[in-house]
Amino acid sequence: MVKDELLELIHKRRANIAIIGMGYVGLPLAITFANAGFNVTGIDPIQEKVDMLNRGESYILDISNAQVRKHTEAGRLRATTDYSILTEIDAVSICVPTPLRKTGDPDLSFIASASESLAPYLHRGMVIVLESSTYPGTTRELVLPKLSECCGLKVGEDFFLAFSPERVDPGRTDFTTYNTPKVVGGITPACTEVSAAWYAQALETIVPVSTTEVAEMTKLLENTFRMVNISMVNELAQMCDRLGIDVWEVIDAAATKPFGFMKFTPGPGMGGHCIPVDPLYLSWKMKSINYTARFIDLASEIDSNMPRYVVSKIQDALNRYKKPLNGSKVLILGVAYKPNVNDLRESPAFDVIHLLQEKGALVSYYDPYVPEVDYEFVRMTSEKDLAAAVEKADLVAIITNHTKVDYNLVFEKAQLIFDARNALKNIAKKSPKVVKL
Ligand SMILES: NC(=O)c1ccc[n+]([C@@H]2O[C@H](COP(=O)([O-])OP(=O)(O)OC[C@H]3O[C@@H](n4cnc5c(N)ncnc54)[C@H](O)[C@@H]3O)[C@@H](O)[C@H]2O)c1
Repeated sequence: MVKDELLELIHKRRANIAIIGMGYVGLPLAITFANAGFNVTGIDPIQEKVDMLNRGESYILDISNAQVRKHTEAGRLRATTDYSILTEIDAVSICVPTPLRKTGDPDLSFIASASESLAPYLHRGMVIVLESSTYPGTTRELVLPKLSECCGLKVGEDFFLAFSPERVDPGRTDFTTYNTPKVVGGITPACTEVSAAWYAQALETIVPVSTTEVAEMTKLLENTFRMVNISMVNELAQMCDRLGIDVWEVIDAAATKPFGFMKFTPGPGMGGHCIPVDPLYLSWKMKSINYTARFIDLASEIDSNMPRYVVSKIQDALNRYKKPLNGSKVLILGVAYKPNVNDLRESPAFDVIHLLQEKGALVSYYDPYVPEVDYEFVRMTSEKDLAAAVEKADLVAIITNHTKVDYNLVFEKAQLIFDARNALKNIAKKSPKVVKL
């Protein structure tokens, strides 16, 4: 009965929706639901974000002001810091951060606090979907008790709870929240049914799975797959270096195999909120049941050494020209964690900068997406004039290969280049002034 009424609201798109956590995941999801005609309220503790959204402004590169304004003006999208709005809400997605603590352990405090804040407003006929990446068991063991302990409602009958991993790839335009298939797994079959029905109103393809644990583990398989393969190719780059083989040529040659091979490229280390972080949630969970997740631990170890390897390559390159790293001017090209975004989270550029500075290098950076940096121990402003910055550097280190950088100019003006991304592939064929990872 409760389920049928909720399904009817969903099918008629009259269910009121709330997104808890309006970041890189939450805002695109809110827009996707609003595009489908739902009324959406974003809940976020950061007043500045709330004010911007209510003014019809976006703070995320992938979402334009026009996309936000269209919905705020139509009254379909609003934002608040106040959880009491949930009394009017039928369907809730939780998209809060799941970072690591300094010790490398999962920090579930955001999920815990969002669930605790939601609990007093839980009511009959509500569906809740957790989207934050986390270890298998979180929805059932952490979120469910906080909700059911609160008001004695029964999951699968009075309210519905599911996990659906977010797969957004910031900066990507071919696959968006709308057309990336969405895996949904509920605490009970009724939870899966209701959550899948809700998401199916706004997203192209829904992939129902049997439990929340399957849905949670699906995300961890995807990200562990990437982490292990990126680390493997990073180790291959180091092996090729010792053997005097061009790893990039090897990878391009291997990629001509039409089956059984997927191309991964080396780099200065993994970044972002997902790939270097999520697999460690699984590793931590396995440790708690006396199992060592060997692939993940090894991949993480190789990855965390990449910035040190990059700095050793930069040092060797300068050494060839009789220049010590101490006192040399190094320009870092690209500090975001991947091309064409302004996201700095877990970016290996900062470890590279820190290690270079420790050795006495005079470091500056240029990044068209990041005018200034105030990230952990690094506080800097981007060089404004690329040509001038390149000219005055003893070495330019290409750390992130944003497409809008003029690499012809970089190649022409630089004295010496370390290219961690093979960004100069089509410009500098075997030039002595370019050292590749
Ligand atoms: N960014 C990505 O590319 C990506 C991709 C797939 C999955 N994910 C996962 O999605 C989740 C969210 O990531 P994100 O990149 O959107 O993070 P984010 O930091 O951009 O956004 C999270 C938002 O949640 C808000 N928040 C924090 N505590 C809150 C609370 N108690 N109540 C309400 N709002 C709260 C923050 O202010 C912030 O605006 C993470 O688990 C992440 O691993 C992210």
